Amino acid sequence: MNADGRTRLNQTPEWTALAKHREELGEVRLRELFAADPGRGTGYTAQVGDLHIDYSKHLVTDETLRLLRELAAATDVFGLRDAMFRGEKINTTENRAVLHIALRAARDAVVEVDGENVVPQVHAVLDKMAGFADRVRSGEWTGHTGKRIKNVVNIGIGGSDLGPAMAYEVLRAYTDRDLTVRFVSNVDGADLHEATRDLDAAETLFVIASKTFTTIETITNATSAREWLLGELKAGQEAVAQHFVALSTNAGKVADFGIDTANMFEFWDWVGGRYSYDSAIGLSLMIAIGPDRFREMLDGFRIVDEHFRTAPAESNVPLLLGLLGIWYGNFHDAQSHAVLPYSHYLSKFTAYLQQLDMESNGKYVGRDGLAVDWQTGPVVWGTPGTNGQHAYYQLIHQGTKLIPADFIGFAEPVAELSEGLKAQHDLLMANFFAQTQALAFGKTPDEVRAEGVPEELVAHKTFLGNHPTTTILAKELTPSVLGQLVALYEHKVFMQGAVWNIDSFDQWGVELGKVLAKRVEPALTEGADVPGLDASTRALVAKYRELRGR
Ligand code: F6P
Repeated sequence: MNADGRTRLNQTPEWTALAKHREELGEVRLRELFAADPGRGTGYTAQVGDLHIDYSKHLVTDETLRLLRELAAATDVFGLRDAMFRGEKINTTENRAVLHIALRAARDAVVEVDGENVVPQVHAVLDKMAGFADRVRSGEWTGHTGKRIKNVVNIGIGGSDLGPAMAYEVLRAYTDRDLTVRFVSNVDGADLHEATRDLDAAETLFVIASKTFTTIETITNATSAREWLLGELKAGQEAVAQHFVALSTNAGKVADFGIDTANMFEFWDWVGGRYSYDSAIGLSLMIAIGPDRFREMLDGFRIVDEHFRTAPAESNVPLLLGLLGIWYGNFHDAQSHAVLPYSHYLSKFTAYLQQLDMESNGKYVGRDGLAVDWQTGPVVWGTPGTNGQHAYYQLIHQGTKLIPADFIGFAEPVAELSEGLKAQHDLLMANFFAQTQALAFGKTPDEVRAEGVPEELVAHKTFLGNHPTTTILAKELTPSVLGQLVALYEHKVFMQGAVWNIDSFDQWGVELGKVLAKRVEPALTEGADVPGLDASTRALVAKYRELRGR
């Protein structure tokens, strides 16, 4: 029994039924499932917005999907979803509402927190961002010396970096190519150095992105950026106002840093860092792509929000994708999940999803405070597909681990490419389709032999297949499609957390390392004797000091 009186997840009849079904299904073969159902390739598909989803290459039958939906019903996933949309404080360990869906709500929508409609605030900030972005893009906003801004450097980390940095890459073809936009996150001084070394400070705007405005990496880099700027401009504090803006929930700390709060773009404690790039945290992106494109992206998010909120379980795509992940993680012992985009522009997409998924669902304690005794979030990993094919796909095809994977691709190359480069798109997509085919159906020993392969190599050249994949295909990569993709994964992560009965919106697991780093630093710099330092760390610190000649 859970502390909240609910039956433990893995003792519910729905869980037990799934475990039994898994046994009965045994080593089901995708080849057999397709042979038995000629309509499977078109039947096991879904559409949400512009995203065509093919889930036919999964180790599931209609019965599997029915049983998984029963698990979702038993764990009241839709009840928690509705509570989220109602603005209830479902982030219980921090006593906060979870309302990233309000960030893309229509202007006339009503989303309440503590009885107050937050949508007007959201649109007021979006309008303020749009006004500022337009002024930077048009050259009306100038630096301290009167020069036009040509460079934007976003300083932030985690959700205050990964989202806008990812989306900037994804939407590069929509950006103002005369602007240089860079993202600095690492407290390693090399990051800021490389981002600024070839920039003219007089033309550079720093966007300091931090929900709390206390994150040590960001504040350290922002302080160094301010020193660099004032040094380069040979100017005093008065130059800061034209070159620094802040994105934060913490006006007091922003003012303490010396940024005029008139140049602060606000968001709210009901926006989690990893769910925030469609808030003020997206300002650098908005400057790069312009307010209209940014709004198109928000419209895309909203399409999937509405789908998640209203579609019945049978056709609810985020629910389906989440349930498939549960099927592999909880009933096949899969430990990881690969996301493999066949688009160069999505090169940072999986890194973004790592925080979204792993910081949300990497938890071993349930909402009721008890340790769970079932697997929770997977290790999420992956890079653009064709590059991965020549690196780690070997393990996916012939290794000993089950790695479910999402393949994301687009029918059209981006419009900006030359005709010659556009022609390469079919080759890219041929790889995209070939890989999921090879992963699903493999190659039998007989097929290998039929090619005349010598017997001693037959086993080596046999592909067992049966590696499950989801294919996500859209016509083209637009701002709206990006919004749809991100919302799809946000809600997938949400529904999985709901089934596992964990709080997907806190991140206590990152705190200990932060506290210890503060404690250890004086040992490095001053050789201070830090009480409680373990023997290994003490010896490593001594070695470090020796290597640094201290
Ligand atoms: O340490 C983790 C974390 O709190 C993330 O959840 C967050 O996205 C990141 O740090 C940055 O936080 P902030 O925006 O407050 O600087």
